Formats: sequence, structure tokens, C-alpha cells
Amino acid sequence: MARHLLGIRHLDKDQIEHLLSLAADFKLRIIEDKPVPKLNKQVVGMLFFENSTRTRVSFEQAAHYLSMKTASFSAAGSSMSKGETLKDTILTLRYERLNGLVMRHRMSGTPTLAAHHFGGPVLNAGDGQHEHPTQALGDALTIIERKGDLDGLIVAIVGDVEHSRVARSNAWLLSKMGAEVRFVGPKTLIPAMSSMLPGAVFYDLATGIADADVVITLRLQKERMLEGMLSSIGEYAAMYQVNRDTLKYAQPDCLVMHPGPLNRGIEVDDVAADGERSAITSQVENGVFVRMASLYWAFTETEPKSEMNPAI
Ligand code: NCD
Repeated sequence: MARHLLGIRHLDKDQIEHLLSLAADFKLRIIEDKPVPKLNKQVVGMLFFENSTRTRVSFEQAAHYLSMKTASFSAAGSSMSKGETLKDTILTLRYERLNGLVMRHRMSGTPTLAAHHFGGPVLNAGDGQHEHPTQALGDALTIIERKGDLDGLIVAIVGDVEHSRVARSNAWLLSKMGAEVRFVGPKTLIPAMSSMLPGAVFYDLATGIADADVVITLRLQKERMLEGMLSSIGEYAAMYQVNRDTLKYAQPDCLVMHPGPLNRGIEVDDVAADGERSAITSQVENGVFVRMASLYWAFTETEPKSEMNPAI
């Protein structure tokens, strides 16, 4: 049976640790120009039904490092614009003998549907408001590099939690690894079912980020918002912006993180985004290595050992 990466929620701590250690190992190998496994018989379809810069390019780069071939797909230029269903599109790619799929879609659950109809591995590159597992893995690797461990850290996730798959995947991962997760934002942007998520809710920024070791601020996802969810962008920024002033409530050495794309001047200011506490560029860099780890993990049939395949 194919191995899929559809979300963090159903992974256990050992699997998360394994993916993170694979990613750290790949990072070292790429930086030191050492060999990495060659999956050169594998063709992976890149199915991005929603816009993407970081995730798409880093999956391409990860596939390139692993000597895989990629087949690009754009929904607008495909038969889906002629009315073909997702199921029929996935079956087409299956019988064209693609070996695996990386998939982003605005609807939660579509990668799971694809996994059902496609023979090989499916990796979720962000589905609706559900999960974005590789973003959470990259964020975890970044925190571990700077803080040594996730266990015992206070991590505040600030802003538009309601629409954020990043917030959900991060919350699952961080809580499984022993961190204390807090969701901070206005009532309208905190999910109604937040009690089902592993984190405490704070509506006040100062209290929510008090003593935090890590502050992850999120983009206001205006494209997913219903009217009336925010009284004004200015008021939101005044109450929830992560900046030099508000960061004084967190630990002096707290990390500032953001999954991108940034709306500078709204959820974060330039001082916080570009200052010495910012880990935003490391998140981007580590995105490539966790996607290498995820592709390798999903595409190799047996559980890889901690030592890389000596046959390379
Ligand atoms: C996020 C996404 O698409 O979920 N970006 C990303 O993949 N790094 C967050 C966002 O769009 O705000």
C-alpha cells in the first residue's frame, strides 16, 4: 500500500521525529555537497489548484535534489476547465503512470480523495483550512535548530487561525512533541470548534504571547473571509500586530515566525519580520529539506533506516 502524507494529525511522535531527522540529514548532505538518494525512476505530478510560491518551488527543488522528474499541472489549462471531475483527473494521471502526486487545493479533504483513487503516494501541499503538513515540519525543524527541542516550549500562533491550515498542522505537531500551544486572535478568527484543537485560546495579544518562546504570526486570509469577520484591517493591526512593542511581552529571545506570504504592516511589521529574532528565511530554507524528507519517506517502500541508503 502506498504511503501518503495527508496531515500531521494522524502521525505519531516517532514518525514526526523520523521525518525531522531525515530532513536534518538531507540538509547536511546538501550543504556539504554529499550524495543523496537518487529516486530517478520516479515521476511526481505537481497539482497546484491554488496559488503557491514557496511550497510549489520548494517541492520542485526537493524533487530535483532527489533526481526525481516532475510533471506540472495547472488547473486552468487542464481538462478540469472543461468540466472533468477531480476523480477522473486523478485516474488519468494514474493511468499515465505517474508515480506520485503533490497536491494543493482550496477544498479540505481533496488530497485524501485523490489518495483513494491514485495508486501511489499523495502528499498534501495544503488543503483548504484542513492541513499543511510539510509547512509544520519545516517550522518544527527551524524551531529545533534555534531552540534545541520542542518539548516544554510556549508557542503562540497569532492571527487568522480560523482560515489557517498552517495553524492546525502546527498545533498538532507541536502538541504531540510536548510544546504548549496557544491560539491568539479576535473571536471571529478563532475557530468555533477550537476546543477540538490542541491549544488554549487567548483574545488578548499581550496575555497570549506572555513568555512565549516562539510567536508564529499568520497572514489574514482575506480571500477566505466572509464579510463582517473584521471591522477594519487597521483595527486588527492595532490589536494583533507582532512588532517591536508587542514582542516585549514574549521572551526576550523569542523566535518570530510566519509561513508567508507576509502582509507587512498588517500582521507583522518590518522590525519583527527582518530583525534578529526572525526565523522567517530559515523556515523557507528548511521547507526544501522537509519536502525532500517527505518525498523520500513516501516514495521509498520500506521504512528508511536512520543511516541513509548506503547504495547511493
Ligand atoms: C500558507 C498556505 O498557503 O497555507 N502559505 C504557505 O504555504 N507557506 C499560508 C497563507 O497562505 O497565508
